[in-house]
Amino acid sequence: MIKKCLFPAAGYGTRFLPATKAIPKEMLPVLTKPLLQYGVEEALSAGCDTMAIVTGRGKRAIEDHFDISYELEHQIKGTSKEHYLNEIRAIINNCTFSYTRQIEMKGLGHAILTGETLIGHEDSFAVILADDLCDNNEGETVLRQMAHIHKRFPDCCVVAIEEIDKSETNKYGVIAGELIEDNLYKVTDMVEKPAPIDAPSNLAIIGRYILVPEIFDAIRDTKPGRGGEIQITDALLKLALKGKVLAYKFSGKRFDCGSVDGFVEATNYFYKSL
Ligand code: UTP
Repeated sequence: MIKKCLFPAAGYGTRFLPATKAIPKEMLPVLTKPLLQYGVEEALSAGCDTMAIVTGRGKRAIEDHFDISYELEHQIKGTSKEHYLNEIRAIINNCTFSYTRQIEMKGLGHAILTGETLIGHEDSFAVILADDLCDNNEGETVLRQMAHIHKRFPDCCVVAIEEIDKSETNKYGVIAGELIEDNLYKVTDMVEKPAPIDAPSNLAIIGRYILVPEIFDAIRDTKPGRGGEIQITDALLKLALKGKVLAYKFSGKRFDCGSVDGFVEATNYFYKSL
């Protein structure tokens, strides 16, 4: 059972400036709920009860969101508006939150390594990038589907993948793999943001991972890669070459809420399904 989920949430969110000047990107709402709350709900659905959040400067709103606001509670107690807080109250009651700060934004791999103090080395853990918003209607959430796979292959990392248009490979980590069963690949190669001509496939990694603790040493051994950042893809490749990374083509939809187009698409989708 995966109990801990890490949320790297220290990035600058430059594609959403000026909105993200004082508000963390992860706190932008799709309808009335911040992106990060969707992520936490997904983690809970997969059996996690410990949320570890990597924040940075200007991200204090995240801590306040996952805490009780006594003044607000007092104001709306006994009124018709009280139900608006039901979901967030249930979250606060059912899991614990811990935080650490990434001082310099040196990339996703570095953000995950920063979370090592919160995660420890005992068990495998999940990673959710809250700006990738996933939905599977009434079916199992993406992280829950991945937890089932990890249960069967506890020595392996699991990354979520989806088929993308080949022209878009330069936005993603892209894998090459050997199909071992329906929708499941053993990863043999992975490249961060390759040009379409260099991409080993059109199978792109999205923001859901289950990682084994060995990943921390692999990240420590990883030099800055594309864009001068420490890339999780490069660290995962080291484990993939030992046969320890699986890629799972999940059921459901994913919205890239780190981009304005994806964010608008997600908003329309969730509004229609109200
Ligand atoms: P992105 O590259 O999508 O996020 O990183 P960003 O840098 O915030 O966005 P733009 O490109 O400037 O608009 C993917 C995820 O990794 C986290 C981000 O917060 C986001 O959830 N991240 C990235 C970190 O926590 N630290 C980093 O150094 C880099």
